[in-house]
Amino acid sequence: MIADRGGASRHGAQNPAYSPVADIYDMADVVITGAARINGAVRLPGDKSLSHRCALLGAVADGNSTIENYSGGADCQSSLRCVEALGVTVERDPETPGKITIHGVGLHGLREPRERLDAGNSGSTLRMLSGILAAQPFASSIGGDASLSRRPMRRIMAPLTGMGARIEAEEGGLPPLRYSPSPGLHGISYALPVASAQVKSAILFAGLYAQGTTQVTEPVPTRDHSEVLLRAMGVPLRRGRHLELAGPVERLAPLQKFFVPGDPSSAAFFLCAAAALPESDLLISDVSLNPTRSALLDVLARMGAKPAVASIEEQSGELVGSLHLEGPRQRLTGTTIAGAEAAALIDEIPILAVLATATRDGIEFRDVAELRVKESDRLCAIAENLRAMGAQCDEREDGLFVPGQQTLRGGTIASHGDHRIAMAFAIAGLLAEGQTLIGDAGCASVSYPGFFSDLKRLTDQ
Ligand code: S3P
Repeated sequence: MIADRGGASRHGAQNPAYSPVADIYDMADVVITGAARINGAVRLPGDKSLSHRCALLGAVADGNSTIENYSGGADCQSSLRCVEALGVTVERDPETPGKITIHGVGLHGLREPRERLDAGNSGSTLRMLSGILAAQPFASSIGGDASLSRRPMRRIMAPLTGMGARIEAEEGGLPPLRYSPSPGLHGISYALPVASAQVKSAILFAGLYAQGTTQVTEPVPTRDHSEVLLRAMGVPLRRGRHLELAGPVERLAPLQKFFVPGDPSSAAFFLCAAAALPESDLLISDVSLNPTRSALLDVLARMGAKPAVASIEEQSGELVGSLHLEGPRQRLTGTTIAGAEAAALIDEIPILAVLATATRDGIEFRDVAELRVKESDRLCAIAENLRAMGAQCDEREDGLFVPGQQTLRGGTIASHGDHRIAMAFAIAGLLAEGQTLIGDAGCASVSYPGFFSDLKRLTDQ
């Protein structure tokens, strides 16, 4: 659906206040117009990475896990539906969205699913749940939508097979994956060839069932939510240069009133908008400040923005707090993002590429070939959409250079059904002259169902 190009709401006649975001929430397409600032306070849906892990580990814990602020995004709902299909009861509190109770069945209590498990668009569900499925005494299979069916799975098949799992895939190591019962998993010493928290987690989850020590070494550190949760659930996981887990583990303690902090990768869209629009004043509360997730704050500060941590506390091993950011006094400088920092910022690259156009010197992204195998080929999608908005950008095999001081023009954006592309280019629309149409904008609900209504509220002048 295309919004009224005058900025009027489709619900009401004339919206007296100018609003840069069309008033359409269950939309196919959305129209965005330029905005002077991002202003106000926002609380975000629960972190996607942590929500998945709560669902998967809560399912095999001994007893009930109570979770608050579980993500309402489609991906995390896929994880819940998969564990339900494996015989786990999940209660959703109708009064409090995001409040759920997972009736964990213990490490050995899952039931054979009646049909193929459906991970939807969610690589995290498919890859991390695989570590658990590989260890079960029953056969199962797991697949997903067209985008997920194109994503590489050899990266989990190699270590899990090395642990004794029996896995078949479609040609090229693509989903769906089929698991046959194996006589038993054994530990492995595995150095990840590519930095991936999903692969690391799949191996650790299989390690819970394996005989002997499972050791994982990462090329660079990635998000550590699995490690934090496993320890909170009583698993003596050793953390150092390697991660080490002695299996088989007898039981996981359930999570008591675990609060999932707001998703920092969702915060990134508003933070980058505020960092580009001078009169902005943004407060984000209850957001994850986990150090493996907060590299964006360092990058913004390095370019001259002044993100401030207004409060911080530890909850169940995770840091949670609030962030305040005012619009910049002068253009941000620009920077280079490479190596370990690129891995730490992997989900934030699309929005940083948009922000780059508003910087003085632009941003160079190196070592980000992984973006080619996300929900879409994100390097290609970023380059294509920046060009559709009249911007220049140099797309490389494993990177991107986006020059600064570019004026974006409204254009038609192809989201490729990729939530982060849709949201990043909605922010590009705020920075642009004229109107920007985001195609298939509803895919934002994969991680952030209320994104467009929050964006509308924060930009209403
Ligand atoms: C995730 C890890 C990252 C990230 C994804 C979520 C996780 O993927 O891009 O959105 O929750 O572990 P990779 O493990 O493929 O890098």
